[in-house]
Amino acid sequence: MVVIGVRPQVIKAAPIIKLLDKDPNVDFLLIHSGQHYDYEMSKVFFQELDLPDPFANLDVKGGSHAEQTAKIMLRLEKILLETKPEVVVVFGDANTTAASALAAVKSKIPVAHVEAGLRSWDMRMPEEINRVLTDHISQVLYAPTKFAVEQLLREGIQENLIYLSGDTMYDAILSHRENIERTDILDKLGVEKEEYLVVTSHRAENVDDRTNLRNIVRALVELSKHVKIVFPIHPRTLNRLKEFGYFDLLGERKNIILSKPVGYFEMLRLIRDAIAVLTDSGGIQKEAFILGTPCVTMRTRTEWIETIKLGGNVLVGANKDRIVSEVLRIINDPNNIKRKLREVENPYGNGDASKKIVIDLKKRLGEGALKVGLLPVNIKEFIE
Ligand code: UD1
Ligand code: UDP
Repeated sequence: MVVIGVRPQVIKAAPIIKLLDKDPNVDFLLIHSGQHYDYEMSKVFFQELDLPDPFANLDVKGGSHAEQTAKIMLRLEKILLETKPEVVVVFGDANTTAASALAAVKSKIPVAHVEAGLRSWDMRMPEEINRVLTDHISQVLYAPTKFAVEQLLREGIQENLIYLSGDTMYDAILSHRENIERTDILDKLGVEKEEYLVVTSHRAENVDDRTNLRNIVRALVELSKHVKIVFPIHPRTLNRLKEFGYFDLLGERKNIILSKPVGYFEMLRLIRDAIAVLTDSGGIQKEAFILGTPCVTMRTRTEWIETIKLGGNVLVGANKDRIVSEVLRIINDPNNIKRKLREVENPYGNGDASKKIVIDLKKRLGEGALKVGLLPVNIKEFIE
């Protein structure tokens, strides 16, 4: 069973879903938690990526963390008891991830965590809580990078539960090069290659905080004097911009092009052809890096540390002056970072992460190695 529910999960799970769905030796169930439910946040990706309809939609929608988590657990538990899957595969760090993992493992059903071992070391982020929790209750952990493997080992996770797979989002990008090329999103939005900045923001700690959101809006207004800005707006952010009265500040600037969330191929094209990316998204930091576009990240920590280490990304928090100065620095010298990015080694694998994960998962299942049971420990060591 694969459980997904938010936009980036549909994308990162897609290559694995495709492999499982067409495998004659696998009985496969896809569950959608319904955490994301707008057409632009979910269904559009099923269409673009040609994914099968989910077996069930838990229809949880929005709500507080406890509400979302509890609803997913209650509704998934019922399906788990009815369908008795051999393993539940969860992705990333959303409430859908942690809630599904908890419901499964407490029903004695093994959990496989894809995108394991990432850390921001910031427990104010709901995603950090979800990651740590999910990693520590999973029976197999698919780590996208070497650093993620090392982190899991540092946290005392047994080595034989960890598998360095590479990153499935990288697989997804590679398999859609032509679709990225084909979209007409630049024409639709009236921008040309390398003349615009593409912006996304949805982190709760940025957009639910009036001061942080104001800083971001003021930075965009300032930057719009220098560059065109394309801003596909996440529904959480749209709600807050309206609630705090900042929406019109953006809407009235000629150089700021606001849009609904765009499709996956459109987003990748916007990232690829932008002069720079300004974001607080996890996935988009990585996509910018892979597509060779410099990224400025409106956070103080990132779990995708390779993007920083290799010179493709910089952290600026929700600090207006830092946002403006770092974006301007890139705009004034874009080729410098682009050249550097072309030369660095890709830390996200070889584009076969999904294949490796499916093969490994089937092998572990075949060997009876996935069990919610006793962990190997020498109790005597603690007593003596
Ligand atoms: C969630 C994930 C986050 C991930 C993001 C991807 C958690 C804790 N957060 O954050 O890790 O980066 O998804 O985009 O799981 N809404 C709609 N329509 C939708 C979806 C959301 O209107 O289709 C609105 C609702 O008002 C909802 C709010 O956005 O309450 C927030 O949605 P939610 O799924 O709770 O959190 P995200 O910010 O999307
Ligand atoms: N994305 C998209 N359209 C948009 C914004 C994002 O297709 O308007 C894609 C993006 O290319 C990436 C994923 O959604 O693959 C990232 O999702 P998001 O930023 O919502 O979540 P995060 O990665 O921060 O969890």
